[in-house]
Amino acid sequence: MRIVLIGPPGAGKGTQARVLAGLLAVPAISSGDLFRAETSRGSALGELVRRHTDAGELVPDELTATLVTRRLREPDAADGFLLDGYPRTVGQSELLERALDEDGTVLDAVIALDLPDDEIVRRLTGRRVCPACGTTVHTVFSPPRVPDRCDGCAGPLVRRADDTEETVLRRLAVYAEQTVPLLRWYTDRELLRPVDATGTVPEVCDRMRSALSLGAR
Ligand code: AP5
Repeated sequence: MRIVLIGPPGAGKGTQARVLAGLLAVPAISSGDLFRAETSRGSALGELVRRHTDAGELVPDELTATLVTRRLREPDAADGFLLDGYPRTVGQSELLERALDEDGTVLDAVIALDLPDDEIVRRLTGRRVCPACGTTVHTVFSPPRVPDRCDGCAGPLVRRADDTEETVLRRLAVYAEQTVPLLRWYTDRELLRPVDATGTVPEVCDRMRSALSLGAR
C-alpha cells in the first residue's frame, strides 16, 4: 500500500508510522527524519534546512520534494510506503502526484490525524528523543526506565530544538495556514481518511487500521 500520514505536529505521526509500517511491511519515510539526517551531517544543505526547522517554518517545497522523491525511489519502497509528514502543502502534493505518475503508481489512502492543540503542546513539550537510535518517549505518557536514558541503546535522551512551547505554537500556526488546505485537496480525490488521535497508542492504531479496512488485530 502507498499511504500518506498527515497531522499537526505531535499528533503521533512518527509513533503510529513505525507501528503501521511494521504491520504493512513497508518502509516509514519521514520528511522530518530526512531533514534531521541532513542537518546532522553538517552540510551546507543541512544548515539551510536547520534555519527553517528550528524556527518552526516549512522547508521550501522543491528542496523537500527532491529529498523525499529520491528516498521513495529506493528499492525498499518499490512495493509500498508510508509517508510521514510529506506532503504538507498543496504544492508538495502536486509534486508527489507528478512523481508517482512518472513511476506509474498512485496513492491508496491519506490518513489525517486530528488532536486538540492543548494535547499537542503536552505531547511535544514532554517528548524526548534518542539521537543515536531514534527512539521517542514521553516524560509522562511513556517514560524511559532510567530517567534521561534511552531504553533501546542507553544513550542520552534529548529535547528537540523545535519542541519549545513557543516553536510548537508557531508550528501549529504553520500547519493551519499551509497544511490544512491539503485536507480538502485529498477529500476531493476521495483519498482522505480522518482519524481521531486522542487516546492511547494502541487505540489510535486500531482506528487507523479500521480507516484502512485492515481488520482487527
Ligand atoms: P517533523 O519531524 O515531521 O515534525 P512534525 O510534523 O511537527 O511532527 P512531530 O515529529 O513533531 O510529531 P509526530 O506527529 O511525529 O508525533 P510523535 O509520534 O513524535 O518535521 C520537523 C520539521 O521539519 C517541520 O517543522 C518542518 O520545519 C520540517 N519539515 C518536515 N516535513 C516537511 C515538509 N513536508 N515540508 C516542509 N518542511 C518539512 O509523538 C509526539 C509525542 O507524543 C512523543 O513523545 C510520543 O511518545 C507521544 N505520543 C504519541 N502518541 C501518543 C498517544 N497516543 N498518547 C500519548 N502520547 C503519545
